[in-house]
Amino acid sequence: MAQADRFLIAGVMGFPVMHSRSPRLHNHWLAHYGLAGAYLPLAIARPRLGEALRALPALGFSGCNLTIPHKEAALELLDEIDPLARRMGAVNCVVVLPDGSLAGRNYDAFGYIESIRKAHPGWRADVGPTVVIGAGGGARAVLAGLIEQGAREIRLVNRTLARAQELERTLGRPITAIDWQERKHALAGAAMLVNTTNQGMVGEPALDLALDTLPVTALVSDIVYIPRETPLLAAARIRGNPTVNGLGMLLHQARPAFQAWFGIMPEVTPELRALIEATT
Ligand SMILES: NC(=O)c1ccc[n+]([C@@H]2O[C@H](COP(=O)([O-])OP(=O)(O)OC[C@H]3O[C@@H](n4cnc5c(N)ncnc54)[C@H](OP(=O)(O)O)[C@@H]3O)[C@@H](O)[C@H]2O)c1
Repeated sequence: MAQADRFLIAGVMGFPVMHSRSPRLHNHWLAHYGLAGAYLPLAIARPRLGEALRALPALGFSGCNLTIPHKEAALELLDEIDPLARRMGAVNCVVVLPDGSLAGRNYDAFGYIESIRKAHPGWRADVGPTVVIGAGGGARAVLAGLIEQGAREIRLVNRTLARAQELERTLGRPITAIDWQERKHALAGAAMLVNTTNQGMVGEPALDLALDTLPVTALVSDIVYIPRETPLLAAARIRGNPTVNGLGMLLHQARPAFQAWFGIMPEVTPELRALIEATT
């Protein structure tokens, strides 16, 4: 449970870190639930990550988020890593346990699945093939979430085939790595399409993918959240596909972290969404 007699502290360690939306999110929830506390951006360069993590218990932190470039490095620096974070090869949340030890977790897969569920409550991962474009950090979260939800066929397309093949090996059975040149064919008969590349993000060109072979019933989601409607989502919407943007993943991954630190599972309200949308 949250402790009313204590000033609650958490933060996000990254380098750079000032772009992170997490302080706005968590400080909104601290105020909303009437908790005395603060969530801070912590600019920690890679060589000092170990020291910074070890200082958390002494400083009274309940834990922290990790962002670029620390998500992978933290695997070797924490006392325990939960199995999902281990499988994803990345930690996005550190929890200080009552004995002062540090637990590494990853809530990005939860965030992604929740974002889809909230937008389409009847959605199921096992209704048909899913095409995932990209094989970076975001892809790992999406793939882990889809697999956990029972996906039976995932066609994983990446510009660099070897990275997709590596995820096929490490994450397992439902994934088939597919060559970039075959991406258009991979869309045939798909029930879902997910972009996890940075293509379509502000400052980047649109994802180079024609949708004409994709069924119009397929759910199209993009984990890019700036802009909120990427060229891929706009093209999908215009041809009649249901769409989900990347903002929900960002918002929902924060909920179990807040709960692990402060004892309350917070809600994503329209007010919070508007607050974060105003910054994107
Ligand atoms: N909504 C959220 O909460 C959330 C969470 C995580 C990430 N994201 C967003 O997801 C995007 C990717 O992040 P990440 O951390 O996964 O990045 P990453 O690990 O660097 O992976 C980047 C991916 O994009 C691909 N890519 C880059 N340039 C490309 C091009 N010109 N054509 C085709 N593919 C290209 C890369 O392919 P190669 O392997 O061939 O290089 C790789 O698969 C970013 O926009 C990030 O903001 C959102």
